[in-house]
Formats: sequence, C-alpha cells, structure tokens
Amino acid sequence: MSDTDQPKGELVIQTIAMPKDTNRDGDIFGGWLISQMDLGSAILAAKVAKARVVTVALEAMSFLHPVRVGDTVACYARVEKIGRTSMTIPVEVWVTRYMTGEQVRVTHGVFIYVAVDRTGKPIPVKREPA
Ligand SMILES: CC(C)(COP(=O)(O)OP(=O)(O)OC[C@H]1O[C@@H](n2cnc3c(N)ncnc32)[C@H](O)[C@@H]1OP(=O)(O)O)[C@@H](O)C(=O)NCCC(=O)NCCS
Repeated sequence: MSDTDQPKGELVIQTIAMPKDTNRDGDIFGGWLISQMDLGSAILAAKVAKARVVTVALEAMSFLHPVRVGDTVACYARVEKIGRTSMTIPVEVWVTRYMTGEQVRVTHGVFIYVAVDRTGKPIPVKREPA
C-alpha cells in the first residue's frame, strides 16, 4: 500500500504529538504511538462488543515514518473479524504534518481484543442481526 492511499477505517482518536512524547533524539516514542492506537481501537472494540474489552494480542506492527512534534496524529480502525469472544482490529496512524499539512501514513498494526465480564472472563461478542 502506498502512502498516498486514503485511511482505512473510522477515525477513533485524534491528538497532537507534544514535546513530552519524544525520545532523546526528538522523535516521538513508538510506545506513545502504540498507546494511542490501543486507546482508539479499544473504543471501537467496546462499542462493537458493548462490553468491557482487554487487549490480548498485538500483531504486525510497522513504523513506516517518524512522527514529529506538532504533527496531528489520527488513528483509524476497522473491525476485520469477529470470533466467539475476540475481535481483530487493524489500525492505521496518519499524521498531518505541522505547518505543511502533508498527510502521511506513519504506522499500522493489528490489535486483538477479547470481550470480558466484570471478573475478566471472556464472554461472547454479540453480533448485530444482519
Ligand atoms: C484476554 C484473556 C481474558 C483471554 O483469556 P483466555 O483464558 O486465554 O481465553 P481464551 O483462550 O478463551 O481466548 C479468548 C479469545 O482470545 C483469542 N486469543 C487468545 N490468545 C490470543 C493470542 N495470543 N492471539 C490472538 N488471539 C488470542 C482466542 O482465540 C479466543 O478467541 P475466540 O473466542 O474469538 O475464538 C486473558 O488472556 C487475559 O486476561 N489477558 C490479559 C489481558 C490484558 O491485561 N491486556 C492488557 C495488556 S497491556
């Protein structure tokens, strides 16, 4: 997929990369980006499951380009697959570069969530009738 493609999925979180999120070289931490992706995709997972969800796995994470201070960071997520208790959610991060407005896909990964009850036990994800 080229960086000129459009984001896939719905916008689940949008924020600005701040100086506090950088490493010693001035680039944004990968861990901070993963945390935004996790927050955003968890919003979608909880909305779909209508239940508490936990992250069970994180797959195929790729960091394609650096994120810089001041960039607007937007996470797009979609439900790719619903299992019995799990949901597979690919997430893409796109930035709008500060000052230039250029849009670049910087990261993508796949998050897997499990719907759980109050005690943390997996529960079935109810599917909406077609
Ligand atoms: C998520 C959790 C409740 C699953 O419990 P479990 O006893 O392993 O449950 P199961 O074996 O029944 O698996 C539940 C679902 O997760 C899927 N799953 C489990 N481990 C997985 C993995 N490593 N990768 C992908 N899917 C996985 C199973 O395939 C199953 O999916 P399905 O019901 O749609 O078929 C438990 O592992 C847990 O609490 N983990 C910690 C979660 C957490 O703290 N997350 C935050 C980390 S920062």
